[in-house]
Amino acid sequence: MGIKICGVGAFSPERAVRNADFESIMDTSDEWISTRTGIHTRRYSQGESTFELGAKSATEALRDAGIEASQVGLIIATTITGDFFCPSLACMVQREIGAQNAAAFDVNAACSGFIYALDTARRFLETDKNLEYVLVTASDRLSAIVDFNDRATAILFGDGSASVVVTRGESASDIYGSFLGADGTGASSLYGKHCYEDHPFGEQNHTWESEFPGKYEKIIQDGKEVYKFAVRVLPIATEKAVTAAGLTLSDIDFFIPHQANLRIIQAAAKSMDIPLERFYVNIENHGNTSGVTIPLALYEGVKSGAIKRGDKICLVGFGAGLTYGSIVFEF
Ligand code: COA
Repeated sequence: MGIKICGVGAFSPERAVRNADFESIMDTSDEWISTRTGIHTRRYSQGESTFELGAKSATEALRDAGIEASQVGLIIATTITGDFFCPSLACMVQREIGAQNAAAFDVNAACSGFIYALDTARRFLETDKNLEYVLVTASDRLSAIVDFNDRATAILFGDGSASVVVTRGESASDIYGSFLGADGTGASSLYGKHCYEDHPFGEQNHTWESEFPGKYEKIIQDGKEVYKFAVRVLPIATEKAVTAAGLTLSDIDFFIPHQANLRIIQAAAKSMDIPLERFYVNIENHGNTSGVTIPLALYEGVKSGAIKRGDKICLVGFGAGLTYGSIVFEF
């Protein structure tokens, strides 16, 4: 069974933080950031919550799909910066948009979150014949969890949200292929720890923390390890999903990769021998917005007219977990 994306929405906070803005708070330069990452600007929330950002893109996606919030039967949200550990982001978005008939839950697969969530949406649509529309929302405020003393990490991330409304594909011959992967042994190369208080019943030791040092509530990463992982798994995930869809790489009109670093995208394109022009890239304006990057790029591709109905699209992501995955579908 294929899927039909019947509406897209996105929201980027107004405050633009340019590379040069970092020069006043750390030892860095516009030149270093743009040549090492491809990023020029990112947007930062000015106090808006993750659920408020999410509700904005969700509202636009519903409008774009031409449906009412009450017609949504399921909301799957993805974030690593939820405002609460409970309730879920999905429940908060449901509350904000008034989708009172929807079940709601979050998927945590970090920057691969949208891939995991969209693939999960398809599985629900396949098995629940009463379900017509699923809202998949990605929303993140990475500005809240970057350590501004860690110059190699802080400059990478931004805030935003993007949503899609998805339903079943119109014909039985619709194209769809997916692949989801994970490697928890790489957890310590990219993580963020919660700060929980110890309970009052006896001494506790936190021996596990020796593997996960560093500040609470901040992103900690081994940039080089993550880079190597990304360059290795992007082609693997892409090829698995393309093959699962019964296609070859040359059939794909647009590849939409997770936007973490332009050099990662260039290296993956080169290793698959695909011209960079077939990769949708918007990292220069947004930085890495975690699970948001892929639906945000899809949104911009659709709204700019670059992506058209009938195009064969390959979404491919990677992130903390470590996780990775890819989806091939016809827009
Ligand atoms: N400005 C100026 N210099 C910086 C800097 C900054 N913002 N950040 C790091 N540097 C310095 C380092 O201190 C180092 O200096 P040294 O040689 O004197 O020790 C030098 O630049 C090179 O650092 P290095 O870490 O080797 O750079 P890099 O080319 O590997 O780039 C990343 C660093 C983080 C940009 C890169 O490793 C990366 O993108 N990794 C993947 C991260 C990622 O995508 N994470 C999210 C995944 S979902």
